[in-house]
Amino acid sequence: MRIAAALLVSLLLLLTAVVSRTAMAQADRDLLAKYKPPPPAQIQNDPRVRSKIDLGKTLFFDPILSGTSSHSCATCHNPSLSWGDGLPRAIGDDNNVMQLRAPTLIDVYQLPRLGWDGKFRDIEAVTFAAISSRANMDLPEQQALSRIGQVPGYLSAFNEIFPDRGLSRSTVEEAIASFERTIVSGTAPFDRWVAGDDKAISASAQHGFALFNGKARCASCHSGWTFTDGSFHDIGIAKGNDIGRGALFPTSVKLRYAFKTPTLRDVAHRAPYMHDGSVPDLRSVIVLYNEGGIDRPSRSEFIGPLGLSEEEQLDLIAFLNTLTETPDPVSVPVLPR
Ligand code: HEC
Ligand code: HEC
Repeated sequence: MRIAAALLVSLLLLLTAVVSRTAMAQADRDLLAKYKPPPPAQIQNDPRVRSKIDLGKTLFFDPILSGTSSHSCATCHNPSLSWGDGLPRAIGDDNNVMQLRAPTLIDVYQLPRLGWDGKFRDIEAVTFAAISSRANMDLPEQQALSRIGQVPGYLSAFNEIFPDRGLSRSTVEEAIASFERTIVSGTAPFDRWVAGDDKAISASAQHGFALFNGKARCASCHSGWTFTDGSFHDIGIAKGNDIGRGALFPTSVKLRYAFKTPTLRDVAHRAPYMHDGSVPDLRSVIVLYNEGGIDRPSRSEFIGPLGLSEEEQLDLIAFLNTLTETPDPVSVPVLPR
């Protein structure tokens, strides 16, 4: 009798263990599924689309789009520097230091709103803001269009690719944006791990991933395979006059000092960090999050002291480092002249 009871108890224990292990495995799988990138977009075979992307790429690398012909888009969104510029704050056409750091353009196609404060509704809307802004490329729209039109290679390309519309503000925007939409993240060690290669990232990085989704609360905002919710938050770090999205919505308490959540793909390549380049390295980023930032009404409810141990902080950094891929080399176009 006693033996039977003991057997029954052990059987029950075994069953609960199996059920809870399966539940845990299911939870792990559900979590990992959120980090699986969609299959790569189909290679564009349509030659018209291909030529539009190539035209956009050439314009992106062409410094005639700045007042003194010193800056192309690629000066600040440089493929060698993970499509940023490696500076705390961007330097415009007139050697003028801008208020903001140049963000990466990796996976920019999937952002619902653009700019650190979300003032741009789509990729197209950024182009002439960059070209004609005094602080940035400092070239009025009409002059930009006439400079492009004076280069025969450009004029014929626009007439060929846009037979009904030719060269105009909207076709320039469309061409450059179609190139920008091809700037996408590649396969990082983290992606190989998500795909099932257990050895692709270290045990410390795996622990860092658990912290990222758990105790450290990072995934509340840096969510999914793009590592951004595309939204705006005050993480309690910004001081100064720039109140980010708050300037566009002055009555909203929560949007004061709210800036766009940046992607974390390739993040180890893109120091210094934040909209104003005020944080020099990943170690300092983690220290700030662990301290919890400035306690004020606008601070996000997900931000506050985290109580991470020294080892846990190193695990988080190890995890962030696994998001860096070895990119395919980018060929630089020969400019038509
Ligand atoms: C002098 C440096 C500089 C140049 C040149 C420059 N940008 Fe930018 N770019 C920036 C900065 C700084 C921001 C952030 C602006 C903001 O948040 O208001 C930005 C933001 C962007 C964004 C939004 C990215 C995001 O994550 O929200 C896109 C897209 C972009 N630039 C494309 C371009 C294109 C296209 C050109 C060329 C026509 C260009 N940039 C030229 C510095 C530059
Ligand atoms: C409440 C939302 C939120 C949470 C939670 C959060 N972040 Fe952020 N993160 C942001 C925003 C917004 C920025 C940009 C702030 C700025 O530019 O001033 C940012 C910036 C960063 C940057 C700099 C990236 C760059 O290109 O400048 C890193 C790295 C980073 N976060 C990592 C983390 C880690 C690690 C955690 C967890 C410990 C975390 N974040 C938690 C919203 C969040």
